[in-house]
Amino acid sequence: MAVLPIRKFPDPLLKSPTRNVLKLDDQIKRLIQAMIATMRHYPHCVGLAAPQVGSEYRIAVMDVSGHPKAEKPHGLLVLINPIVMEYGPREKVGREGCMSVPDFTGNVPRAMKLRLRAFDQTGSPQDWTLRGFEAVVAQHEIDHLDGLLFLDRVERVGSDVFRRKTYR
Ligand code: NI
Repeated sequence: MAVLPIRKFPDPLLKSPTRNVLKLDDQIKRLIQAMIATMRHYPHCVGLAAPQVGSEYRIAVMDVSGHPKAEKPHGLLVLINPIVMEYGPREKVGREGCMSVPDFTGNVPRAMKLRLRAFDQTGSPQDWTLRGFEAVVAQHEIDHLDGLLFLDRVERVGSDVFRRKTYR
């Protein structure tokens, strides 16, 4: 499976809202498989949204298994037309990076619990409750689907955005 090129800021596609998938046809299934392959290709990549690979569909893939910050992760999650049903009350600020913003990281406040609804890769509707790091990743990916980057979520660009010194 081919690894797809990653769109980088300031590519305008990253700022555009996506459109819902209406039919899980072969084109969409191939896109999902290519997104999974692309995510897996990069050892530290825990999530990828369709606009990052040049697609306008509301699809994200994520997998935080094996990440040191992950507690009880769900494994591979394919989120088609995801919507957040509920944010947990507790927020925490954490450092985020993004393959589409390779030169910077940022301190971003996120809910520590999330209930979301999406179709899975078989087209079945699912409700997931995610916690901790997995919830943070889901919020980051759903932001991509709404045309938002972590840079749009930091409280103060002057003090909450950092130039990367090392690349993992
Ligand atoms: Ni990202």
